[in-house]
Parts: sequence; C-alpha cells; structure tokens
Amino acid sequence: MRVLIDPRRPASPGSRVTAADLVDLYAPARHRRWVRSNMVTTLDGSATGADGTSGSVNTPADHRVFAVLRDHADAVLVGAGTVRDEGYTRVPPTRRSPVPAALVVVTRSGRVPEGLRTPTEGRGAGLLVTCASAGDAALSRARSVLGEESVLVCGDDEVDLPEALDRLAERGLRHVLVEGGPSLLGTALAAGVVDEMALTTAPVVVGGDFPRIVGGPALAVPDGVALRPHLLLEESGTLLGLWRVRR
Ligand SMILES: NC(=O)c1ccc[n+]([C@@H]2O[C@H](COP(=O)([O-])OP(=O)(O)OC[C@H]3O[C@@H](n4cnc5c(N)ncnc54)[C@H](OP(=O)(O)O)[C@@H]3O)[C@@H](O)[C@H]2O)c1
Repeated sequence: MRVLIDPRRPASPGSRVTAADLVDLYAPARHRRWVRSNMVTTLDGSATGADGTSGSVNTPADHRVFAVLRDHADAVLVGAGTVRDEGYTRVPPTRRSPVPAALVVVTRSGRVPEGLRTPTEGRGAGLLVTCASAGDAALSRARSVLGEESVLVCGDDEVDLPEALDRLAERGLRHVLVEGGPSLLGTALAAGVVDEMALTTAPVVVGGDFPRIVGGPALAVPDGVALRPHLLLEESGTLLGLWRVRR
C-alpha cells in the first residue's frame, strides 16, 4: 500500500504504508467526539455487488482499513437494513482491540435483528437506537431481549441522531464509526453529524441498478455536502480515501 495524498506530510507521496502507519494515519482526534463513516463503492458508483451485499466488492486493502477503523472506534453505528442483509451480530474482538467496539443498531421499527445480543456495557455492547413511534409492543420486546439499558429511545417519529450520539457519548462511546447502509448515512449527513467519510473505491464496475453509498433525499440542495481530501492511499488499484466534511 502506498500514499497518494497526505496533506499532513506533503513530501510523502509514493511512500509505502506499514501496518503501524495505517493505524497512525487513521487515528481519530482523541480529544474530541468524532463521527466517521466507512463505505465501499465500485468505480461505477455501486454500494453493492450483484449479490446485494458490499462483501462482494471488498478487496484485501479495504478489509485491512475496515479493521483499523473498527479498532479506532468506541461504537459501530449501523442501520437495521444492513444488519439484516449482511448478518451483523456483534463487532468481533481483534488482537489490537480485545474489547471491541459496541454495535449500535439504528431502527425506526424497533425490531431487534436476529442474533444481536448485549454482552456488556460500553465498548463491546450491543445496543438498539430507536424512536417512540416504534410502539410499546416493539419497545418492550426489544427491552426483554437486550435489557432496559440497551434500548435507547431517541426522538418521536424519527430517530434523532444528534440525541443518540449525545447518549452514546454519555456512556463513553465518543468515537463513532457509521458503517451504513445508504439510508442511515443519508440521514446522518442530512443531520450534520458526520465529521469525516472513509471511502474505498474498488477497481471494478458492476452495472445494474444497485444503491449508491448515500440514500434518501438530496442533501444540502443545491450544492450537496462539501468535503476536502484528508488522505488517499492505493493498493492494487483499490483507492482508500478519507474526506473531511467542510464546516
Ligand atoms: N457499500 C457499503 O459500504 C455498504 C455499507 C453498508 C450497507 N451496504 C448495503 O446497503 C444495502 C442496505 O441499504 P439500506 O439503505 O437499506 O441500509 P440501512 O440504512 O442499513 O437500513 C435501512 C433500515 O435501517 C433503519 N434505519 C436506517 N437509518 C435510519 C434512521 N435514520 N432512523 C431510523 N431507522 C433507520 C431502518 O430500519 P427498520 O426497518 O428496522 O426501521 C431502515 O429500514 C445492503 O445491500 C447492504 O449490503 C453497503
């Protein structure tokens, strides 16, 4: 893997990236709360391969950065659709991070995804973030499966993401990694809570009519959400970028 752009070290284009460098390059600002998203896209802008999952467009370089980003996170925030489509149950521990990030599932329906369990508090926990419109029956079912403390009701008709992030920070979950899917990322960008986007571009085109990485209504019409490059790496044609949202 090599550096293409690193604005912090302009003299370093082309330099090789070791495993230790990778950890350093993706380290979040420790002194403040930070929300980072991570998605993969094909060259023609698809968020999935023909099997309907992102797993079929990942590359080895993307897997390595994916693991580093998780190691840096206190919580992985993910939409219930992705949990169902990609079979998430927890964030597995790694050698660097024996206590893994909490898996925080966002759902309007309040339905607990199959297999989601809540082993502990804080890092390593499984939490559900939902809203009051999920209804009493769904909320009490979720509380009986996950425990009272692991079901956060934030907002009435919609999940209030800024409130959810405040509640996570109160539990010490300050560095949050949004792993999609497109619906969740669209609402997170619309709510203005995303600081930084990690985006892998896999060197493949898939055609078809698949989702893009950001779903939902147009953002910040007419200009969109503007970002600036913070880092660009390359390995075997895979481009690994980190983009900061302009405030
Ligand atoms: N390319 C990538 O990096 C990447 C990453 C992740 C996923 N994906 C792919 O994206 C596809 C899934 O897309 P998707 O847009 O359906 O994913 P999603 O955002 O994970 O799931 C949508 C569902 O999540 C819940 N949800 C999401 N945002 C919410 C919000 N702001 N408030 C309340 N609930 C919210 C709702 O669940 P309820 O129905 O329970 O209310 C909603 O129906 C899959 O094919 C997956 O493989 C790709």
